[in-house]
Amino acid sequence: MLSASLTLDPAFKVAPVSRRTFGTFVEHLGRCVYTGIYEPGHPTADEDGFRRDVLELTRELGVTTARYPGGNFVSGYRWEDGVGPRDRRPRRLDLAWHSTETNEFGLDEFVAWTRKAGVEPMMAVNLGTRGIAEALDLLEYCNIEAGTQLSDLRVAGGAKEPHGIRMWCLGNEMDGPWQIGHKTAHEYGRLAAETARAMRMIDPGLELVACGSSGSSMPTFGAWEATVLEETYDVVDFISCHAYYEEHDGDLASFLASSMDMDHFVDSVVATADSVGARLKSRKKLNISFDEWNVWYLSRFQNAEPPQDWPVAPPLLEDHYHLADAVTFGGLLISLLRHSDRVTSACLAQLVNVIAPIMTEPGGRAWKQTTFHPFAQASRYAVGQVLRVESDSPTHETARFGEVAALDAVATHDEETGATTLFAVNRSVDQPLTLTVDLRALGPVRLAEATVLSGPDPYVRNTADASDTVAPRANADVRLDAGTLEITLPAVSWNVIRLIRP
Ligand code: AHR
Repeated sequence: MLSASLTLDPAFKVAPVSRRTFGTFVEHLGRCVYTGIYEPGHPTADEDGFRRDVLELTRELGVTTARYPGGNFVSGYRWEDGVGPRDRRPRRLDLAWHSTETNEFGLDEFVAWTRKAGVEPMMAVNLGTRGIAEALDLLEYCNIEAGTQLSDLRVAGGAKEPHGIRMWCLGNEMDGPWQIGHKTAHEYGRLAAETARAMRMIDPGLELVACGSSGSSMPTFGAWEATVLEETYDVVDFISCHAYYEEHDGDLASFLASSMDMDHFVDSVVATADSVGARLKSRKKLNISFDEWNVWYLSRFQNAEPPQDWPVAPPLLEDHYHLADAVTFGGLLISLLRHSDRVTSACLAQLVNVIAPIMTEPGGRAWKQTTFHPFAQASRYAVGQVLRVESDSPTHETARFGEVAALDAVATHDEETGATTLFAVNRSVDQPLTLTVDLRALGPVRLAEATVLSGPDPYVRNTADASDTVAPRANADVRLDAGTLEITLPAVSWNVIRLIRP
């Protein structure tokens, strides 16, 4: 049995929890849109063709923002195709995913869906095949009230109120050779800066995201951020990070420690951004929009044949997550929260069917993958200030990350209600961990709930027929006495411990 300890103190503040940490991503990819969020004719479809079962699960998941329409898709997308009368919308080849886009669902439908889901829309502009003019057109269409050609087009289409979109991504993964219109850092930096400047002429209050690296293992990582930010520093608010993790060659111990890579990634991008800021003698600090993150078995996708014959909404990237995926995913959430002083926006990629916490059957059921639970719990209970936890944990060796702590944890504390929540992962593949938590600085508290996501088989999955196999259960192995909490965290587990004022 391993043992670890930590101290919770409301004085150890990192930053307020940003609600935008719990964003997600809806791309025109596979079945995310069609038969995912949108399926007219489905038994639960509403008057707009939105699946009510998916809307309900989206609300339960606690999603706060939704990035749209891509992803790789956006770099070949003409937003005008998806507005106006449906019978006049063109069918187009989607080169990114080798599919056919019918454009039956477009911008106004997406914004209407976000209103129903209660989430903030976040838009990406195409800087792959398009540029400044089209970005300005899109902004005019979305955010100008009326009285111009494009705002009147929106009104004529039925969207009377402006969409009022605040957060805009300046392209997607422009460092990736797979991206349509892939650019060098200098080419992209110049285009992003000029696009940002022009967009700010319409609305100086927009929040703009420059593309960072598509992963920390990209050969241009670091240099890309430095060059792009040299050009864009004054005109953007965020630099993006994207990261996906998977278990390689049965190495579960390294996989469970994936948040070490995310920590390093964020720290490196913050350091790079701050060094550019220092060189430019700027007092401004850029934040990170971690606008794609998840567990994704990318190697399986890369080894598969692309779809043939340009199908409409084929099943793509439908990873089926197990318990260990959900525990690793919980570690990634901990990393994002731990960096809340600089990571103030994040998007789980993606929402439905495509590497997603929610799965659907066309015409049938919607159900929760294992990863649904850590996200829903973090979104619900991470409230108030993020607290640094001072922990002392045993360590073990991993092939990818060297020595790692068995315990990974972060906490939040709501000064108003006194509620404190500890999120903790036991990364050990085979040993339970006894955790002793010093709570004295919190004053009098009682245990509201301790839940655990664990099981004898780390590779067990949920299915449509058994969607509750992996779900949080009460952890009875917990004691609270005289300002000290003691709890056992099973091997390969995600844990949520909630304390409230008595
Ligand atoms: O989320 C799937 C894809 O991953 C996105 O389209 C792209 O931006 C990234 O490479």
